[in-house]
Amino acid sequence: MAPDRRTDWWRDAVIYQIYIRSFADGDGDGLGDIAGIRSKLPYLADLGVDAVWINPWYPSPMADAGYDVSDYRSVEPRFGTLEEAEALIAEAHQHGLRVLLDIVPNHTSDRHPWFADALAAGPGSRARDRYVFRPGRGPDGDEPPNSWQSVFGGPAWERVTEPDGSPGEWYLHLFAPEQPDVNWEHADVWSDFEETLRFWFDRGVDGFRIDVAHSLIKQEGLPDAEDLEWPRRPVEVDGALHRSPWQPHPFWDRDEVHEVYRAWRKIADSYDPPRVFVAEAWVDEPERLARYLRADELHTAFNFTYLQAIWEAGYLRHVISETLAEQGAVGAPATWVLSNHDVARHVSRFARERSEPGSSVMQLLDLPADLDLGRRRARAAVLLTLGLPGGAYVYQGEELGLPEVEDLPDDVLQDPTWERAGHTDRGRDGCRVPLPWSGSAPPYGFSPEGSTAAPWLPQPGDWAGLTAEAETGDPGSMLELYRAALRLRRETPALGDGELTWLELPEGVLGFTRDPGFACVVNVTGTHAALPEGYDILLTSDDLGTEGRLPAATSAWLKRN
Ligand code: GLC
Repeated sequence: MAPDRRTDWWRDAVIYQIYIRSFADGDGDGLGDIAGIRSKLPYLADLGVDAVWINPWYPSPMADAGYDVSDYRSVEPRFGTLEEAEALIAEAHQHGLRVLLDIVPNHTSDRHPWFADALAAGPGSRARDRYVFRPGRGPDGDEPPNSWQSVFGGPAWERVTEPDGSPGEWYLHLFAPEQPDVNWEHADVWSDFEETLRFWFDRGVDGFRIDVAHSLIKQEGLPDAEDLEWPRRPVEVDGALHRSPWQPHPFWDRDEVHEVYRAWRKIADSYDPPRVFVAEAWVDEPERLARYLRADELHTAFNFTYLQAIWEAGYLRHVISETLAEQGAVGAPATWVLSNHDVARHVSRFARERSEPGSSVMQLLDLPADLDLGRRRARAAVLLTLGLPGGAYVYQGEELGLPEVEDLPDDVLQDPTWERAGHTDRGRDGCRVPLPWSGSAPPYGFSPEGSTAAPWLPQPGDWAGLTAEAETGDPGSMLELYRAALRLRRETPALGDGELTWLELPEGVLGFTRDPGFACVVNVTGTHAALPEGYDILLTSDDLGTEGRLPAATSAWLKRN
């Protein structure tokens, strides 16, 4: 049966991630906003993506860039109003773009009314039980209740002062102290998040990205965490990916979390057309990740094993094959992603020779960088990514070929990681620098002409050649490569959802065919690779070498002649 585009669009959608703070500033305060997004909808439609995912735009004290939400059913005034949000959703739909928002169910802001109630109501109260409060350890209760560490560094517990002024209980925060974890054993938590889903679905939102979807549920009794590696990355040994045997973790990927998503799926399915979910779940075991994608749970999940992969043909092939096998087994389409707002931009990752998978800026800083090579690989990678079966994500600015900004001065860093990790981890600001749209100097059209406020993070002085304006019409630019690939992807019946067949090619070269009549060849690290016979070239990531061969770090889309 032919797929129904109205309901199955998500099976092969290309979804553009809008990191709202850094996308476009409509009101001139140096911070991106809804007005900025609305002004760029024609750009996004012209780029050829199918949908956008917008990072949290809810009221927030911004302790973690909006992932500390104080009201899930409203809009942060610095980003705009609820009316503007509704107008944006309607206008995006008119441009043929679907809209996904970002829901943050593991924690609220410490300024959420619930947290104020929890503090005021004191130990043992129903209000306090919406969060995870425990007495401390040690004779005076002045040691954290267990050994859990926060993702941003330091203990995952903070002590509060009780209403009577005495030193009190501790609350759990797997992220910043301003992000207390909620208790998913509390009925209010279930009903409130369900109300939030309906609130936005009723306003025409097409779906949600679920923040830290593998979290939420904590093991009963909150036992100390053994020294469990997380996320557990695979290594390649003799042509296969190996992982240490899976074992349960006290707060990541607990089996009980799936009950939440079964309930959410019912809500999404009650709408016409049905709404969709994508999981942000840092679960590297493909079999464990596929559990989130069972038919009565979430639709898709980010593929972080692919994002973190090293530039090595065998490794890439294993990751791709494993993903397709495991996700196919539950009937879910794969998705492919190279960058997002939490990882070092892939041009800069690919600029390094690495033998270990990973994505953090700290893994890069000491390695020599060749940014020209990084860009060539990024160009080759996007044809691979968009040629694979399933859907794909594009992180704003990757279509311009932006590198990670690795030299932000210490005093402008805003990611809580920097402080929490005692200035040992520079965090994620380098991939969040406001986009360059036009002109030859900062703010490169990010803010309207005449704005007095500077962009919230400084932009490099040498980005004039990387603006959307400068790249438009330049056939060698990253932007025109993305536009050409996205246009061809729509026109080529073999692309999108479906299957692939691997070609057996020389070492360092990856290739596959897809029916009808399509082939993709990526020369990852090989010597000049010949193209398979019987095909014409649709698109290449760079000029071909002598005799029409693909140089290393070059890819090609082909069609059977
Ligand atoms: C997710 C978000 C990240 C945020 C964290 C805590 O990983 O992508 O930006 O800091 O959750 O909400």
